Amino acid sequence: MSLLEILEFPDPRLRKKAVPVEKVDHVLKQTIDDMFETMYAASGIGLAATQVNIQKRFLIIDLADEEEEDNPLVFINPEITVLDPEPYRHEEGCLSVPGYFEFVERPSKVLVKALNKEGAPFEIEAEGLLAVCIQHEIDHLNGKLFVDYLSVLKRQRIKSKLEKEHKQKTSA
Ligand code: NI
Repeated sequence: MSLLEILEFPDPRLRKKAVPVEKVDHVLKQTIDDMFETMYAASGIGLAATQVNIQKRFLIIDLADEEEEDNPLVFINPEITVLDPEPYRHEEGCLSVPGYFEFVERPSKVLVKALNKEGAPFEIEAEGLLAVCIQHEIDHLNGKLFVDYLSVLKRQRIKSKLEKEHKQKTSA
């Protein structure tokens, strides 16, 4: 397994729209394993293919905390339906926007249909943190980031700070 590079806002590659996965094969499974390793190493709870510069529609989630056993979830070609539009407010973060956490409102309950790692179809009703996470990750596949829900001013401030940090990193 190997660690993958996570793209960071405002990298334009995060704005690309991912295309459906055509075949669930061993190459995809290997990539998914690498993504889990990358996500765990970065202490994240979700990662979309777009974030590791793969423009295909799949994402991974693991909401288990440190004391719990890993609970890896894989969603390939996810399709989402809102079951309850009542807004649920949660403080979100993102491995592509490191160090920033902001409240975002999203529909509180969703139905997701997808393929699992073996390519078998499944569906899941999600609410709470899982619903937030699935919607956040599917946004990535559509080139959208949680900072897009913030005010222009807030987004601009985060963008300039991350650009500055990035410059310092690359010139060091
Ligand atoms: Ni994210």
